[in-house]
Amino acid sequence: MALTKENCACIHGIWSSVAPHPEKYGAEALHRMFLCDPQTKTYFAGFDFHKDSPQMKAHGKKVIDALTKASNHLDNIDGALSDLSDLHATNMRVDPANFGLLSHYIQVVLACHFPAKFDCHTQQAMDKFLAKVSCVLTSKYR
Ligand code: HEM
Repeated sequence: MALTKENCACIHGIWSSVAPHPEKYGAEALHRMFLCDPQTKTYFAGFDFHKDSPQMKAHGKKVIDALTKASNHLDNIDGALSDLSDLHATNMRVDPANFGLLSHYIQVVLACHFPAKFDCHTQQAMDKFLAKVSCVLTSKYR
């Protein structure tokens, strides 16, 4: 489903609070995913899964920064994340089902930290946005 103007406004509205703190929110989303869905750890060999470990923060930052880039190119998410799409399909070979999991934990982080901003309209917009990102990141699998 295409993002409406209202969806885009909601995404920018909440993401402007997330983007300046990529390590904090990224590490929290990853920590929740690794804890609640431990099978996702299998892709991260030799990783320190402790909450807020330097690796969690560094990788969390990469994920959030990539989403910030996508949020700045809502009319061309495919183009913005093209390199990342190649990497996830050919190098990491992440099972596509895992993208829905991380998307869920990112939304849990938003709900916990920004309860007022994360109303039902923003939830719908973020859900559509993260589904689009997941779709782009798994588009090279075929
Ligand atoms: C919202 C969805 C996701 C985004 C935006 C995202 C973003 C990124 C970024 C920016 C990188 C770094 C690429 C680089 O080093 O150039 C990366 C690497 C990686 N991602 Fe994702 N990712 C997502 C979902 C997932 C999921 C669901 C998994 C597996 C459960 C996963 C597994 C990996 C792995 C294993 C690496 C390589 C880590 C390393 O060795 O440094 N990603 N991802």
